[in-house]
Amino acid sequence: MCGIVGAVAQRDVAEILVEGLRRLEYRGYDSAGVAVVDAQSNLTRIRRLGKVQELADAVNSEQVSGGTGIAHTRWATHGVPSEVNAHPHVSGDIAVVHNGIIENHEELRTLLQERGYVFVSQTDTEVIAHLVEWELRTSETLLEALQKTAAQLDGAYGTVVLDRKDPSRIVVARSGSPIVIGLGIGENFLASDQLALLSVTRRFMFLEEGDVAEITRRNVTIYDQAGKLVEREIIESNIEHDAGDKGQYRHFMQKEIFEQPMALKSTMEGRITRDTVITESIGVNAVEILKKVEHVQIIACGTSYNSGMAARYWFEDIAGVSCDVEIASEFRYRNFVTRPNSLLITLSQSGETADTLAALRIAKEKGYMAAMTICNVSGSSLVRESDIAFMTRAGTEIGVASTKAFTTQLAAMLMLVTAIGKEQGRIDAVKEAEIVEAIHALPVQIESALAFDKQIEALAEDFADKHHTLFLGRGEYYPIAMEAALKLKEISYIHAEAYAAGELKHGPLALIDADMPVVVIAPNNDLLEKLKSNVEEVRARGGLLYVFADEKAGFEADESMKIIPMPHVSEITAPIFYTVPMQLLSYHVALIKGTDVDQPRNLAKAVTVE
Ligand code: M6R
Repeated sequence: MCGIVGAVAQRDVAEILVEGLRRLEYRGYDSAGVAVVDAQSNLTRIRRLGKVQELADAVNSEQVSGGTGIAHTRWATHGVPSEVNAHPHVSGDIAVVHNGIIENHEELRTLLQERGYVFVSQTDTEVIAHLVEWELRTSETLLEALQKTAAQLDGAYGTVVLDRKDPSRIVVARSGSPIVIGLGIGENFLASDQLALLSVTRRFMFLEEGDVAEITRRNVTIYDQAGKLVEREIIESNIEHDAGDKGQYRHFMQKEIFEQPMALKSTMEGRITRDTVITESIGVNAVEILKKVEHVQIIACGTSYNSGMAARYWFEDIAGVSCDVEIASEFRYRNFVTRPNSLLITLSQSGETADTLAALRIAKEKGYMAAMTICNVSGSSLVRESDIAFMTRAGTEIGVASTKAFTTQLAAMLMLVTAIGKEQGRIDAVKEAEIVEAIHALPVQIESALAFDKQIEALAEDFADKHHTLFLGRGEYYPIAMEAALKLKEISYIHAEAYAAGELKHGPLALIDADMPVVVIAPNNDLLEKLKSNVEEVRARGGLLYVFADEKAGFEADESMKIIPMPHVSEITAPIFYTVPMQLLSYHVALIKGTDVDQPRNLAKAVTVE
């Protein structure tokens, strides 16, 4: 959601802070702000509505100087996007930035108003600024004031505080929103994501839940929830330096779509031999756990949920274990029954999605044999709190619309189900070799799907003036259709729905007319004839069909049906293959519509609030 950057250095930090915000802008982008204090305690605060560039221009023209500062890019939760609601918020000498939500902000606001504080914004964050200001009056240190403040806050937050009168330090608290500390030489930094700081350091410490820390130029002092002085491990980041750079591409989403062959290669590296899956590579104790698994419960949100829905077919078909998939925000609020020998799997690109994390924490108390996360960000909360972290290695994903995270999650799950099938004796060496051969072929297959880019670009013209689109698939292609619909609505703002094709006649067929494009995913599998009947149902009612069909599927184009012939690929990995033309379609429709592809309205990457 929002992004935070902070620095304590001898040099001027305004530029470092703004560069950090640029790298975090994908997380929230309705307004941004910075507060910098110099050695003489002069504080400059600049906030701007809109993109980080607006802030950067203002910071340049005002030539902000000072070695200690905090900065923020906002995704509005409480209060509209506006300059007055942008962070940092100030109370007396205190400046504060905050990610997350303070649930008891109304009652704190009343309390603080009774104490004489005047609120100027509609944000929940402003209560933190006033509370720290109040607590500092009776505290020895800023850190103590923050600890006392944190004890009064309900909700999920990462918050950073600066005191104008003491420019030698900033203090930070983490409770539900990630904070990473970046270690420099004679200077230290913090951020909500290590990506923000890669231009200044590659050495990081991740704060844990309930931690508060004080950061000076030379020291980082961390206390845990119980107030005990603690050390946190220092990790060398392996994120590529240029992750925040679009290179030859127009958008991060486009770059990330085209990175998929490489992302898939990295995800399978060291995990498969020529013809087997290396079960041990899935994680510590994987062999023992996978041997015993009788049921899999997948929890995720958005695109990650769709990938779980697709993989469910593999869990039951290949591994022979039952599998349920549930949206995290639903799972966390219902009473559920844990089946014996159940493996809990969270799926997440960011590893910080608030609902998924909350669901994991609840589920861990309910007797699952182990909690595994399939995740793309090492050091993230899900990774740290799970028993097994099976990492996708897609590289940093910046486009809000998730693409390479989805296909690498599917590849990871295909390796996982194969390992379960093998460890439980449900598949033999021949079947295992067949699956592994298909996995090896994936990068080349995806290249061949990417080669349809120009053709799909031309096709996208047909969709750009439409208000709705239906996506149809059967079996594991139904979740692929769900993902296609999510992509289209997310970045082109066209209302899109996915249906299991057999369900059409139970209602949605009523929607079919010449203004409703219907996209069909049609691999050559044993459901093809059934799917063809569903296509006829649409055609008979004057629908406009766009069929992405296996070249041997036997569809014939006419004025109501365009066929996009796809090369025949292994049935095992075809769901991953057919995802790519769907991603390209939504990308090109959005381009024609002129929407903000990487930062679609109202959305943010990494949804760290409920
Ligand atoms: O980081 P996660 O995979 O946990 O994120 C889950 C969803 O918020 C995410 O997939 C979202 O739906 C994307 N914007 C979809 O493109």
